[in-house]
Amino acid sequence: MESLFPDFKLGKSATTIAPQVKSSSLDKIKIIGGNPLNGTIPISGAKNCALKLMCAALLTEESVYFENSPNTLRDMNSQIELLEYLGCAIKCEGSLMAINASAIETYTAPYDIVRKMRGSILVLGPLLTRFGQAKVSLPGGCAIGTRPVDLHIKGLEEMGATITLDDGYINATAPAGGLQGAKILFPKVSVGATENLLMAATLAKGETVLVNAAKEPEIIDLGECLIKMGAKITGLGTETIRIEGVKSLKGVRHSIVPDRIETGTYIIAAGMTGGTLRLQNARIEHLSAALGFLSQAGIEVEQDKNDIIVSREVERLQGVDIMTEPYPGFPTDLQAQFMAMLTLADGAGMVTETIFENRFMHVPELSRMGADISVQGNSAIVRGVKSLKGAEVMATDLRASVALVLAGLVAEGETTVNRIYHLERGYEDIVGKLGGVGANISRVSGE
Ligand code: UD1
Repeated sequence: MESLFPDFKLGKSATTIAPQVKSSSLDKIKIIGGNPLNGTIPISGAKNCALKLMCAALLTEESVYFENSPNTLRDMNSQIELLEYLGCAIKCEGSLMAINASAIETYTAPYDIVRKMRGSILVLGPLLTRFGQAKVSLPGGCAIGTRPVDLHIKGLEEMGATITLDDGYINATAPAGGLQGAKILFPKVSVGATENLLMAATLAKGETVLVNAAKEPEIIDLGECLIKMGAKITGLGTETIRIEGVKSLKGVRHSIVPDRIETGTYIIAAGMTGGTLRLQNARIEHLSAALGFLSQAGIEVEQDKNDIIVSREVERLQGVDIMTEPYPGFPTDLQAQFMAMLTLADGAGMVTETIFENRFMHVPELSRMGADISVQGNSAIVRGVKSLKGAEVMATDLRASVALVLAGLVAEGETTVNRIYHLERGYEDIVGKLGGVGANISRVSGE
């Protein structure tokens, strides 16, 4: 293993297996609300970028190294499990991850691993373009609507792949000479489809043009890493990305962009509880749409070198209307947290969800805590109340779960958030990070 990763500084904590999340899925989080948050929270590398970068490691036989990697997340564990199953060698130490895909043993991503997380569909493009074949189970992940993968499949077909769907598996084969460059017009903006096609195109023959591509910072980061690996890509961050296929890609050392959704979540936490937070290693420019609305609500945010400083400007936040949109619009992954914030605002705010059709699962739980929310189709009117009351709550997706934690931080009395499994998919050490800035929060065993 050492010879695969020559520049990996092996310390005592280095591991050849996935770093295990220690808690059981039955564990709960208990919060006693009312404490303002003051102090410093380090922001982790972006989960939604790290998961894709790991798939990009499949594009080369050389070793790749990722710094600022959120290695302790459950979703990262699931991706490690999948890549190890495929035959990758992986080492993790702190927030460094090294992957070597020189000895891939199978091109099949099985249901048992893929069902845990939707991000695993991103092995499809890399496997198919490098090895000419891939069999990937249809994915699982958060229960937020049907979430099809038709755009991923259609794009690969346009690059010459033959694809069939059998028994819940996507069976894909490339033509004899490999995938062909193509002009792919996405009828709808999709983060995952853009990423899958971007990776597939790096090793295809000739030029691929992705039109109506997604522009998320995570896609730019993935593209920049691919460029360092030798890919020829232009137009990242615009709606037209051009990729000129190359014969092979090489190893890389890349530092993962900070998690803008984790950052936004803690900005809202500071705004809801009062106090002043310094968010270490965070980028204000990746949250510009959200910050406009947060500022209207009364939250002050400023960049200080690599950090962001957040404070609440007003006694009580104001109700504001938001609508989720593809980047650079308001992120759907911050919608639930913003709604939790509106429950205590002065006046009403309307939240319209345009990306996913079933992303209001936090509404009944917030209502159990005393929130006044009425849902009409894909919009929710949130009328601010004077106070929330602690309650036993549970959510079935990652961002909905963290919205309940935020509500618990300001509710009167005790809130118990069940199924913290979801939180651990996307928030590194949330109990430690919030506890470290003054929240009365603890993890209790559910056994
Ligand atoms: C990614 C993020 C997720 C975020 C979402 C939107 C990861 C692991 N997840 O998810 O946290 O909420 O972007 O910012 O990065 N669609 C289709 N056909 C497809 C693909 C998507 O109809 O083939 C639809 C989806 O159902 C959805 C919309 O397009 O309504 C956007 O989905 P997409 O951008 O693809 O989200 P994900 O990549 O799954």
